[in-house]
Amino acid sequence: MSKLKILTIDGPSASGKGSLSRNIAKHLGFKILDSGLLYRAYAYFSKSISKIEEIPALINNEISFTYNESDVIILHENNDITSELRSEETAKIASKLSALPQTREDLLSIQRNFYSEDGLVADGRDMGTVVFPSASLKIFLEASPEVRAKRRHLELQKRGQEVNMLDLIADIEQRDMKDRTRAISPLIPAEDSVLIDSSNMSLDEVLSFTKKLTKKEFNK
Ligand code: DC
Repeated sequence: MSKLKILTIDGPSASGKGSLSRNIAKHLGFKILDSGLLYRAYAYFSKSISKIEEIPALINNEISFTYNESDVIILHENNDITSELRSEETAKIASKLSALPQTREDLLSIQRNFYSEDGLVADGRDMGTVVFPSASLKIFLEASPEVRAKRRHLELQKRGQEVNMLDLIADIEQRDMKDRTRAISPLIPAEDSVLIDSSNMSLDEVLSFTKKLTKKEFNK
């Protein structure tokens, strides 16, 4: 199997995948796929659309993602739906839907279409195991639930959303458990992935470690 010019970054929520993806994609000049946002967009449409089979076309035709170094803006036609997609409410629906075979099948080709020969950084849960098994470089990024809850808390605060810290830890642990134990595409490291525990590492430290790996693999 020939290897594709892809760096996959899998791991649980708020492990720092998003920041690492945006920064390393800029460094490499690769495109980005934040697959969690596709699951969140699926959840967003599921609230208003009765025919679930219409959702993939709506994601393809009506949603746009604009990435910059610190964030991504998501538009539904001309409406900014970033905060709605990032909310805990949407995350909970996305978590439920992501366990269904239909959802995963619907999103598979949409995710694979993000690949171009210029290179791709793909962030998610099953990027290295299911969506892009022939990626050249695979990272599995971990962090303790407490550290992840703190990061998510800060992120939500920045967006003006207040949530209780203990509730957040409980929610994160519950969603992780579901992600790790679901029957299809569970959250597990690909056999050929490099494990990074970022609990005690800054973004800069994770980034410079990742750059050592990309230097070897992509010469960048
Ligand atoms: O990374 P995130 O929190 O934005 O992901 C939202 C939900 O989507 C989360 O519950 C897990 C699910 N997901 C998934 O099952 N597979 C992926 N590749 C990405 C996300």
